[in-house]
Amino acid sequence: MLIYTKIADLRAFLKEKKSLNHTVGFVPTMGALHNGHISLIEASKKACNVTICSVFVNPTQFNDKTDLERYPRMPEKDARFLELANCDVLFLPSVDEIYPKKDETIFDFGFLDKTLDGKHRPGHFNGVAQVVKRLFEIVGPDKAFFGEKDYQQVMIIKALVKQMGSSIEIVSCPILREADGLAMSSRNTLLTSEEREIASRIPKLMLDAKKIVKEKSISAAKLFIEEETKKVSIMKLDYFEICDAETLEEISEINSQKKAIALIALFVGKIRLIDNLLIS
Ligand code: PAJ
Repeated sequence: MLIYTKIADLRAFLKEKKSLNHTVGFVPTMGALHNGHISLIEASKKACNVTICSVFVNPTQFNDKTDLERYPRMPEKDARFLELANCDVLFLPSVDEIYPKKDETIFDFGFLDKTLDGKHRPGHFNGVAQVVKRLFEIVGPDKAFFGEKDYQQVMIIKALVKQMGSSIEIVSCPILREADGLAMSSRNTLLTSEEREIASRIPKLMLDAKKIVKEKSISAAKLFIEEETKKVSIMKLDYFEICDAETLEEISEINSQKKAIALIALFVGKIRLIDNLLIS
């Protein structure tokens, strides 16, 4: 596997591949890689001739400074993991390489970034859009792969590509989970063993909520989640919403014509975790 830290070197490699008409698949990440990330690498390898993975902890998407400082960084381990997955290139740029000067771009995603994580983490999706736009301009992939674990992020990226007038195909991939159902996340490594144990309740709560929506109502499911999370002192619910899966508008009733999705964000101790589940 090739490792590039400089844009110029990556571009020279890509120029050669593109001159041979090789298709380029791109998997942007913030590192501390786990099998969820690797599933995106595998999807890219299946669909494209060359797979590029970037590892860059993007400062502009962290609205909380301590969250940025605490974010796990393990580039050597990531490189070994990607090598084992037969990834072709790891792009590991510095902050100065990505942002030679401050990026002041303000995107307008309308309602999409004013709800859920957009509302609870102000500026987060603007920062995600800044870095993904920059990375797309550097890599110029044919396809880019994103996980449905960050459901709202996939919608933002699709809107971004439209706004850029770009032909990059955004491929969304299913959530990979640990054996106990917890969605894989780089942040899971920050949990103590007690917090990890508590976190394993999240997927079960989501499945129970889904059942309650089907048997009773959306409001009963919301109340259930509020009450269950309140029972655990180290859990703090940020939000639990059931939304139209196409627009993220909150819904109050299930409609057989429309897909509904439950989305949750909560703190376990100091660590913020998210998950989602299709309801219908
Ligand atoms: P990061 O959290 O590292 O995630 C990188 C990609 O891996 C995202 O597309 C995310 O949805 C996907 N992913 C994470 N956990 C997953 C899981 N359990 N199953 C499947 N896919 C999973 O998301 C980001 O980084 C950043 O916001 C980024 C897009 C790189 C911009 O900085």
